[in-house]
Amino acid sequence: KNALYGTSIAHIPIEHDWKVSYKRLEFSELLGEGAFGQVYKASLKPKKKTSKVNSRFVAVKQLKDGASDEEVIELVKEIETMKSLGHHKNVLSFIGQVTDGGKLLMVMEYAPYGNLQEFMRNRRPHLTTEQPVEHFPYLCYRDLVTFARDIACAMTYLESVACLHRDLAARNVLVSDKMVLKIADFGMSRRLNEEDTELKNYYRVHPGGRVPVRWMPPEVLTEGRFTFKADVWSYGVVLWEIGTLGGNPFSDVEPSQLAHELLRGRTLTASPYVAPYLCQTMSNLLSDCLNIDEKMRPCFRELLHKTDYLLESLN
Ligand code: ADE
Repeated sequence: KNALYGTSIAHIPIEHDWKVSYKRLEFSELLGEGAFGQVYKASLKPKKKTSKVNSRFVAVKQLKDGASDEEVIELVKEIETMKSLGHHKNVLSFIGQVTDGGKLLMVMEYAPYGNLQEFMRNRRPHLTTEQPVEHFPYLCYRDLVTFARDIACAMTYLESVACLHRDLAARNVLVSDKMVLKIADFGMSRRLNEEDTELKNYYRVHPGGRVPVRWMPPEVLTEGRFTFKADVWSYGVVLWEIGTLGGNPFSDVEPSQLAHELLRGRTLTASPYVAPYLCQTMSNLLSDCLNIDEKMRPCFRELLHKTDYLLESLN
């Protein structure tokens, strides 16, 4: 079996011109709320009333009222990035944009199980006698390794198309049917052009923007220097989130102190939810990704091969 299964350069756009008419959307509940935008669930009706195609659920991102020009530009950039990415089974698909009536909405694939962080938290074994409000089946080790593999697969693809994600975290990964993961939230991502890729492979963080400090490696925190190896560090933090079923990384460290602490050797260690026989492999991967020296961190292709191998060994 090819570990890169699902990677496809051939890209068939769902809407050729990416334009979606506002009238085709029927909004329902709020799925998520960020600093400047909201994501709603909606039903997208077919283009023609006579169509035999059914309505489908979509997720629609819109800016809050009174959004600034910068925020509009950020959303436009996110839309452009998503449009430019080809199709991959572990990357959330872009469906189109609404531009009617001076509003800009981003229409994307709907992931029925929401974000990975909450998904895992809801499935923690409850260690108290209190019954949970709603009962979800627990996750098994195989599920956790599959999560690690799916994310590595998406990131290998993003690197192959020169897309830095820059905000990889369990809250930005969505869970779709059959627990297939989809990387989402390209609000901070950047496509590197060929020149950048060949030249130095890095991108500087804009000062003043929101920053996911606890997912960032020391070279980003101290120099704002971003390479794919920074995404690899974030991937390591996500492995820890998976191992703790949605824990808060470095929760006892002040954001302003994090770089200092990391350089003093502070790290994340394996977690109570992972079985001992998996623990060693997972925690080795974790510490490989959280290497202070970015050159020593593995690349996503290696991480994909290792997680895929680990998964195969569980069969
Ligand atoms: N929350 C944010 N984006 C979402 C999406 N595309 N599907 C489901 N929940 C979401």
